[in-house]
Amino acid sequence: MEIIHVSAECYPVAKAGGLGDVVGALPKYQRQLGHVAKVVMPMYRTKFLLANEWDVVHKGYTHLGNWWFNYTVIKEKTNKLGFDLYLVDINGVLDREKVYGYDDDIERFVAFQVSVADWLVAWKHRPDIVHVHDHQAALIPFFFKYCHAYQSLADIPTVLTIHNAQYQGWMGWDKSTYIPAYDTWKTGMLGWGNAINSLGSGIKCAWKVTTVSPTYLEEMRSNANGLEALLEYEKGKCSGILNGIDNLVWDPSTDGYFEDHFTIETVEEGKRKNKELLCQRFQLDPKKPLITFIGRLVGEKGADLLPQAIEDSFYYVGRRMNFLILGSGFPDVEGRLNAMKGLSRGDYNVYIGYDEALSHLMYAGADYILMPSRVEPCGLNQLYALRYGTIPVVRNTGGLHDTVLDYGDKNGYGIRFNHASVGDMTHGIWRAVEMYQQSEKVKEIRQHIMQLDFSWESSVKSYMQLYESIK
Ligand code: ADP
Ligand code: GLC
Repeated sequence: MEIIHVSAECYPVAKAGGLGDVVGALPKYQRQLGHVAKVVMPMYRTKFLLANEWDVVHKGYTHLGNWWFNYTVIKEKTNKLGFDLYLVDINGVLDREKVYGYDDDIERFVAFQVSVADWLVAWKHRPDIVHVHDHQAALIPFFFKYCHAYQSLADIPTVLTIHNAQYQGWMGWDKSTYIPAYDTWKTGMLGWGNAINSLGSGIKCAWKVTTVSPTYLEEMRSNANGLEALLEYEKGKCSGILNGIDNLVWDPSTDGYFEDHFTIETVEEGKRKNKELLCQRFQLDPKKPLITFIGRLVGEKGADLLPQAIEDSFYYVGRRMNFLILGSGFPDVEGRLNAMKGLSRGDYNVYIGYDEALSHLMYAGADYILMPSRVEPCGLNQLYALRYGTIPVVRNTGGLHDTVLDYGDKNGYGIRFNHASVGDMTHGIWRAVEMYQQSEKVKEIRQHIMQLDFSWESSVKSYMQLYESIK
């Protein structure tokens, strides 16, 4: 079967979060099963672009409203990622340093999607499935079905995967000219609420819709940033498929980002060495448990709760642990976390920014990873942590619910708490610190979690079955 993935991110080309990891891994595992998988994404100005060689496969000319533009599709020459990678270049629009965060993001991603559809028509190539990811690609099912220019693509089955319904690609109706010509009586398939809603349109028009964990799908029926009723209406075509992790990239015995590799047999020693490195670099005390947070410093992740929970833990649980935070996001959360460095007695530090290498070292050297998420469609951090013998302390929601069992329960191995609140999180931290006193127990849990299998091998099969059902 041939699948074309359309996405704004794909690791290692460009990654802002878990979407990049998933789109970098899923096609690789589809190839392993003998299928043809391709990825199409915007051409940003990234290291990967400059470090690799490219063939020009198509040059086109299309438009966004009354702005006409040239675009170029380039393909990586050597199949370096294990699948065909295509980048869409729109001069001055997509070729920027960051993936998101520009005032014209709406124009950038609609122009990207228009170019993809325009190219597929010109290519006269018919994949079995077009699989679009998140709102930056979610208008494509509408384009295929209803835009006059793309009618030759109308019978290609589309799948939309929702990685995160908090962001939906909203635009006012004044921007409706961005959508290539369609019959106006189909307007309802674009909108939700009082605006064009890219993700909502994708849910209406895609042949199948998936979320990245079963529990997230369930939760979205009552909490989906305004899309609840739509999901309820379309529930017949929705299913939850848990993400996997790329075991080739995320392997503590071979990880290219740090030197002191370890296996299940050597986890105690390996963790100690990596922890010492981290503690040295961030002036922390290696004798105390190291509790980390890695991620976007935004409300969804409960990052705003961190400063108070850390202060309360120092006060109520005592200075019996270290905290190390890696992330970037809301300026006021960044500011508060930075300001707290003044409170450190060799037991707190923060690195504001995005640093792939440091994140790998933290998964390897940490004792615990904190995830107080308000919303967590799947969450990959806890899955990486498990594979690196790091015990997750998580809020019981979404994909965290599906992947972390509390160690107080049968076969459990992590720490779960119910509310995204400072009190619940502090209690979770207290439990982690208490657990740490029982070194044999910790050792046993580490060895257990490193053996859990959250690889793509099983999830990829669920996607293949889904495609088969609509092919
Ligand atoms: P989300 O996609 O919602 O941000 P996920 O848990 O699915 O959350 O994935 C987050 C991914 O991004 C993980 O690979 C994590 O290690 C990485 N990540 C997040 N923030 C940073 C950061 N500041 N530096 C390095 N890696 C980060
Ligand atoms: C999103 C979600 C995260 C998920 C990731 C990959 O960014 O917030 O929970 O793991 O996508 O699917």
